[in-house]
Amino acid sequence: MMPYQKHVNSAPTSPTFAAKNNPNRSQRSKFCIISMALLLSSAILLPLLFFTISAASRQRNHRPLSAADNVHVICQACKASRDQRTCETWLSQSDTVPANAAVSDVIRSAVKVSSRNLETGRGMVQNILDASAGNQNRSYAAMTCLDILRYSDYRLNLTDGALAGGGIKDARAWVSAALAYQYGCWSGLKLYANDSDTALVQPTMAFLNSSLIVSTSNALGMLANFDVFGDKTESWAPPKTERDGFWGTGAGSSGSILVGGVPAGLKADVTVCKGVSGGVCDYKAVQEAVNAGPDESSNRFVIWIKEGVYDETVRVPLEKKNVVFIGDGMGKTVITGSMNVGQPGMTTYESATVGLLGDGFMAANLTIQNTAGPDAHQAVAFRSDSDLSILENCEFIGNQDTLYAHSLRQYFKSCRIQGNVDFIFGQSAAFFQDCLILVSPRQLNPKKGENNAVTAHGRIDPGQSTGFVFRDCVINGTDAYMSLYYSKPSVHKNYLGRPWKEYSRTVFIQCTLEALIAPDGWMPWSGDFALSTLYYGEFDNTGTGSDRSKRVEWSSIIPAEHVDSYSIQNFIQGDQWIHTSSS
Ligand SMILES: *[C@@H]1O[C@H](CO)[C@@H](O)[C@H](O)[C@H]1NC(C)=O
Ligand SMILES: *[C@@H]1O[C@H](CO)[C@@H](O)[C@H](O)[C@H]1NC(C)=O
Ligand SMILES: *[C@@H]1O[C@H](CO)[C@@H](O)[C@H](O)[C@H]1NC(C)=O
Ligand SMILES: *[C@@H]1O[C@H](CO)[C@@H](O)[C@H](O)[C@H]1NC(C)=O
Ligand SMILES: *[C@@H]1O[C@H](CO)[C@@H](O)[C@H](O)[C@H]1NC(C)=O
Ligand SMILES: *[C@@H]1O[C@H](CO)[C@@H](O)[C@H](O)[C@H]1NC(C)=O
Repeated sequence: MMPYQKHVNSAPTSPTFAAKNNPNRSQRSKFCIISMALLLSSAILLPLLFFTISAASRQRNHRPLSAADNVHVICQACKASRDQRTCETWLSQSDTVPANAAVSDVIRSAVKVSSRNLETGRGMVQNILDASAGNQNRSYAAMTCLDILRYSDYRLNLTDGALAGGGIKDARAWVSAALAYQYGCWSGLKLYANDSDTALVQPTMAFLNSSLIVSTSNALGMLANFDVFGDKTESWAPPKTERDGFWGTGAGSSGSILVGGVPAGLKADVTVCKGVSGGVCDYKAVQEAVNAGPDESSNRFVIWIKEGVYDETVRVPLEKKNVVFIGDGMGKTVITGSMNVGQPGMTTYESATVGLLGDGFMAANLTIQNTAGPDAHQAVAFRSDSDLSILENCEFIGNQDTLYAHSLRQYFKSCRIQGNVDFIFGQSAAFFQDCLILVSPRQLNPKKGENNAVTAHGRIDPGQSTGFVFRDCVINGTDAYMSLYYSKPSVHKNYLGRPWKEYSRTVFIQCTLEALIAPDGWMPWSGDFALSTLYYGEFDNTGTGSDRSKRVEWSSIIPAEHVDSYSIQNFIQGDQWIHTSSS
């Protein structure tokens, strides 16, 4: 009903890609499909138009023309796109591809095409906002869209620098997030598509879906291929997933256990304590301390939040980087709130008690909760868009939608996460190591029974490097839930996950799955939505709930030689940013 809302049991609608089911695709992808009209008046290029790639490369040796070279390299790179035709069209018309472009130049140009479309999209959404004075809900939706398109722009801007410096993993992570934000804006406008007082919403949505999102997906497809094959474009193809039998990294790659987390013994820059007057602490509220920190800093800003209950909404904005929250322990330092979607105008996204945007966030030894209660629907405790963030020894308590791991790379170590419905959700690449995941009683009348999913991962494009990985975790119920469960197991059904979006990806490795996990293991979203495209993997789990003999056929056992794809190093590049010493 609102931007960023994840409905229970509503049929999802997602933008799809025309090329996906095209039976001519594999046939076509051998050829450059740039049409004559697109090459404008370049008659000299005519002979090239119908050549196969190999013919074109032979031709290349005798043809010093840079434009012709670009046609070749654009065609090669666009094999990575899910929509090859738009990829070739836009790039060949674009003035961003330099003469004698290398593959990496084409990728950077593809990102620029996406950036330009983003600029156009922002203008269109601004026009909706301008036409919405007096319509509070639509104004709010348009403003939310503009916000998240700004985050998208921010990530695309960073990507160019990463590519220039060879940071392909970062580039892929950032474009994955940029795409998720664009999709978020698109879906936030859906409610207003038929408003009679403005005709602006439908064309805007059409542009976001068929130009902006497609151009970003095109760039992402190239990044995904570059990540795996480098510039050997002869191997490039639209991104594949594990369901196609494809793992980007695997046997032989770094799979050693990474020991690290929030460094111990960090010195507090400022202190926060509750109800204490007379200069004992610097601040009384967590948000005041966050606001006091420097902008765009590469140094940590350590906030020691002393024992106490902090009833406040905390936001760490984009420019507050490397903020660290240290508490006095789970259940001792508690940040609490109760916002929920039952309140007028409230969205799932905004309901978070603590919401992060700034990169490099860390927290240890505290509790974050949303107490809206079991009948309040979506009510987020913690939401994060912080790339390279670490949460250690943290507790997250809520009901529906406790932990919104919204985007980018997040590491949760030894955390305790409690909720129900599908309480760990989002579009991020989130890694859960040694966490305790607890289902809690759900409705006001909990004896009635219910279906819960532990996760709902949302990935809309197979090129996105996102997913949820659970390693060495325990999936159980709270004591109260387990006694309910054992009183009548047949009505209390719990699943490891359900697919919020088409390419949902979630794996459980060497976890303990307690009896509450239903034998079929995973739950559909709506009919057969996403069942042939998602990837739900299990490996070497123990506990009554780990028995796979009755599992749904659309879940998988991860082949042993590919388990390393889901290591901290390979999945979130943790070896490059998770501190293994106490400095
Ligand atoms: C989104 O765009 C694709 C083409 O890229 C199209 O096939 C699909 O129908 C569109 N979806 C919606 C909901 O407009
Ligand atoms: C991205 O870069 C463009 C061009 O340099 C700039 O105008 C824009 O403000 C940047 N966007 C963000 C969110 O930083
Ligand atoms: C807008 O109209 C279309 C076509 O009639 C319909 O499918 C869609 O559900 C409507 N959307 C809303 C928000 O009413
Ligand atoms: C968290 O608390 C534990 C136990 O008191 C302590 O050993 C650890 O150093 C603390 N972590 C940080 C980052 O302060
Ligand atoms: C605006 O949204 C609220 C829910 O957040 C809803 O109750 C209200 O009816 C909406 N107003 C209009 C004019 O649609
Ligand atoms: C799961 O919870 C039950 C009931 O609270 C408890 O008896 C059991 O030991 C827990 N399992 C694990 C693996 O901690």
